[in-house]
Amino acid sequence: MEQISSILNDLSIGKKFEIRGWVYRIRASGKLAFIILRDASNVIQCVAKAENFNDGDFKLVSSLTIESSVSLVGELRKDDRAINGYEMNITSFKIYERNDNFPVSKDISEEFELDNRHLWIRSREFNSILKIRSTIFKAFREFYDKEGFYEVQPPLMVSTATEGGSTLFNVPFFGETAYLSQSSQFYLETFIFSLEKVYTITPSFRAEKSRTWRHLTEYWHAEAELAWTDNEQMMEIEEKMLHYIVGKVISENSNELRILGRDIETLKESLKPFRRIPYKELIDMSESLGMPLKYGDDLGADEERQIMSNFKTPIFVTEFPATLKTFYHRPDPSNPEVILCHDLLAPEGYGEVVGGGERIWDYELLRKRINEGGLKEEDYYWYLDLRKYGSVPHSGFGLGMDRVAMWIMHLDKITGAIAYPRTIRRLRP
Ligand code: 4AD
Repeated sequence: MEQISSILNDLSIGKKFEIRGWVYRIRASGKLAFIILRDASNVIQCVAKAENFNDGDFKLVSSLTIESSVSLVGELRKDDRAINGYEMNITSFKIYERNDNFPVSKDISEEFELDNRHLWIRSREFNSILKIRSTIFKAFREFYDKEGFYEVQPPLMVSTATEGGSTLFNVPFFGETAYLSQSSQFYLETFIFSLEKVYTITPSFRAEKSRTWRHLTEYWHAEAELAWTDNEQMMEIEEKMLHYIVGKVISENSNELRILGRDIETLKESLKPFRRIPYKELIDMSESLGMPLKYGDDLGADEERQIMSNFKTPIFVTEFPATLKTFYHRPDPSNPEVILCHDLLAPEGYGEVVGGGERIWDYELLRKRINEGGLKEEDYYWYLDLRKYGSVPHSGFGLGMDRVAMWIMHLDKITGAIAYPRTIRRLRP
């Protein structure tokens, strides 16, 4: 049994192979049936000639339907008219399951496609999307493993909010209320006092009531936390990490990027250094970027879409006003109005893919910020404890994997970048 891609790599003309897969296209005319077969790796044209079969078998093979599962045995030959320039001349076959009417084809509505995602993931487009996602996840892990980080496993049913209460999902928990984790940051902070450099990839949950092109209610969150590190150093690591991820996708998935119609030359612009622009400077530039903003305005999906349509390479936005961000960010000691944090905005209109920065590591200051935020100190006792026993300067970040995938593949919406999106309107399939 061979995979189509290895047959097309080896090109052993005249050799007999058996391939297993699904009928991707079929066209039969008279004494010939052309079947494009797909497996996980690629597609290949197969031809069944009436002369090689008895009447009953030729009828069976020439009337196969799309997505029927089969195994085909035949010889490889060159044929310039075939999809990859080669063709299998079939001499025997086995049908595993023959379907009557596969419901999903091209030119379907977005809603129909999403309702049938469990079937649509077989398409060449989605097969490519899944492969690129797999590379992105693998590259993230590879990068941090090489940098000497440990992968850790935080809990996802939690008792406290990280990013404010408005987007928490409640879960009944034996007489208490648990929340689904919005971010593993606080737990990662606990781990650095044992391991110093840690990361995790988990789902995060946000009860996002607004429907935008870049929000999911369950998304894949890659987070890292690092002892003895400041905001500048954190940005350097993130830049190196994104160069690594983009470089890996370009080197391993050029075929898939081509199937998706992604312009690889534009993507290569993201291998260049990332500019760092303080929030205030960005506000000053905002009019010339086509989105007039004033100091104190938050950057949402629409603002970032417009601003980042002017850039081909990601940028870091730094020095946000403290009023725009959550309580744990460390104020700049030389100007406490701004915090030592950053958002990384992806180019070509995609906007925020990473949020990170330095954490408050002083006990009294953190207590003050918790109280100012109207939060209960006792809920955060373990988070405060970290500032009581051997506190150290530290930084971290969270990266939205589905957003990074959407940007790298240049997709319209985040729901196209994940197999089973969860949004305010979608819980199935
Ligand atoms: O900016 P956020 O909210 O930051 C945090 O959660 C930090 N505690 C992370 C950390 O420092 N460890 O989220 C981080 C990233 C965003 O930049 C975005 O890419 C992604 O998570 N994200 C979402 N992705 C999809 N759907 C949503 N609803 C998202 N909300 C945030």
